[in-house]
Amino acid sequence: MFEASAMASESSHVQESSSGSCTESGEDFAPSKLGTKEYWDNAYSRELQTYRDIGDVGEIWFGEESMNRVIRWMEKQNTAENAAILDIGTGNGVFLVELAKHGFKNLTGIDYSSASVELATNVLAEEGLTNIKVQEQDFLNPSPDLKGFDLCIDKGTFDAISLNPEGREMAKLQYMSSLRAALKPQGHFFITSCNWTKEQLLQIFSPGFELLQELPTPRFQFGGVTGNSVTALVFKRL
Ligand SMILES: C[S@@+](CC[C@H](N)C(=O)[O-])C[C@H]1O[C@@H](n2cnc3c(N)ncnc32)[C@H](O)[C@@H]1O
Repeated sequence: MFEASAMASESSHVQESSSGSCTESGEDFAPSKLGTKEYWDNAYSRELQTYRDIGDVGEIWFGEESMNRVIRWMEKQNTAENAAILDIGTGNGVFLVELAKHGFKNLTGIDYSSASVELATNVLAEEGLTNIKVQEQDFLNPSPDLKGFDLCIDKGTFDAISLNPEGREMAKLQYMSSLRAALKPQGHFFITSCNWTKEQLLQIFSPGFELLQELPTPRFQFGGVTGNSVTALVFKRL
């Protein structure tokens, strides 16, 4: 199951099930506390305190490589430095730092947890990156100004949203609607997930989004079956 301890970071590994995803049932999975704002508020309040105490930025969800593979793809496509990029559910803001280090200049991160926004703001300030916008926003109820992006990036946020114990199906529909509002037509959407397979993501995003590429992620073998524990896809908004 997508649990904090089961998520992949540089130092930990996604808990792999025989279904080839990090869910236990493959097809569907039970709602969990990871789908609640309370969970993330508590998690980022703790991470903020740790950051203040020892300067540790905390969890890098899915590890460094999960950022590098997206940035490599962007660079291969000659993505313009001033492309407007939105990091949906930015957490500690480390992806924004990496994007800025690679020369991207028009960056926005949003998160619905105020502690995450405070942590990301501190992490960016420490790096001298004061021109990056970080806003407290619920992506399921975004401000009308959250629009005009050339690229939207989601690393683990759709996973969290789809674990919402209340109104999961509505949350998924609202996510699609917010994504369509935020991303320009022809814009690119990058999603990294450990709860949904490629096939499931294609089904969810196919109305209005075309798959451009599956980015390679580590493969594993279990009981003679080969699969990926993390799925990373690039879509284009039609
Ligand atoms: C698994 S963490 C990933 C954080 C970050 N993307 C990363 O890769 O480190 C999920 C993030 O989504 C945020 N989140 C969940 N639901 C959200 C929503 N409806 N609107 C905005 N952010 C949300 C959480 O606060 C958390 O920061």
